[in-house]
Amino acid sequence: MAPLTPQDEAKKAVGIAAVERYVRPGMLLGLGSGTTSHWFVRALADKVKDGLEVRGVPTSNATRDLALELGVPLVGFDEIDRLEIVVDGPDEVDHDGHMIKGGGACLLWERIVADAADRYIVVADSSKLKDRLGAFPLPIEVIQHGWESTTRSIGRLLQLHGYSAEVPLVRRATADGSPVITDSGNFIVDAHLESIDDPLVIDRELNWIPGVVENGLFTGLADEVIFSTPSGEISTMSCEHAPAGRPTTTPHGLRDRVG
Ligand code: 5RP
Repeated sequence: MAPLTPQDEAKKAVGIAAVERYVRPGMLLGLGSGTTSHWFVRALADKVKDGLEVRGVPTSNATRDLALELGVPLVGFDEIDRLEIVVDGPDEVDHDGHMIKGGGACLLWERIVADAADRYIVVADSSKLKDRLGAFPLPIEVIQHGWESTTRSIGRLLQLHGYSAEVPLVRRATADGSPVITDSGNFIVDAHLESIDDPLVIDRELNWIPGVVENGLFTGLADEVIFSTPSGEISTMSCEHAPAGRPTTTPHGLRDRVG
């Protein structure tokens, strides 16, 4: 394996710390996607080798494959009802715990698993914390049929909220130029917004557009964020009372609903 960058060191440290802090014997866990979450899965696998009994629901085929390779037992929603926690990483997270996710194109499954979890733990290297979301392009998962029209609708909606007509809306492609296809067979359109003033509104309204399956603004889902610096300094941020852009039936969402 190539030497780890300082950011990778931080991702690894936070993955290990999250296992120590949040995982208990017998837990049903949502397993996030992306490099930070994969450090968590590796650290979890080490505990499983030592006899820890847990079962996980993966948020992508990549995470499923890693868990199977490392011997982390998996389970499906055909067998279980709810998860105690989900542990997943952001592309950006703000001080309320609102996130941009989907850099790995797994946002739809990530959000399905998040909705089934009683507690959402975000694992992040400290460079992911932002005062304002949006420098990272916002991933929007759209079905293939009519995607060009869906993308134009996204542009019109963004303009209604004051974003420029020039905001690039780019269908994500692989290095050879072919479109990225998600685990559910959809495309990803990345919206280069640069700065998002109103994440709750954009989270809510993007999903109104026919053809949009999910968007990468995860508002009011995270309960706690655990951060690490490259030198392994761990800190946490509670965000369990941050409002959500759209109704959820998670304990977090229901707490908001009853005030
Ligand atoms: C995948 C995701 C990832 O969790 C997000 O991109 C963070 O990735 P990484 O931990 O590699 O920085 O949302 O869809």
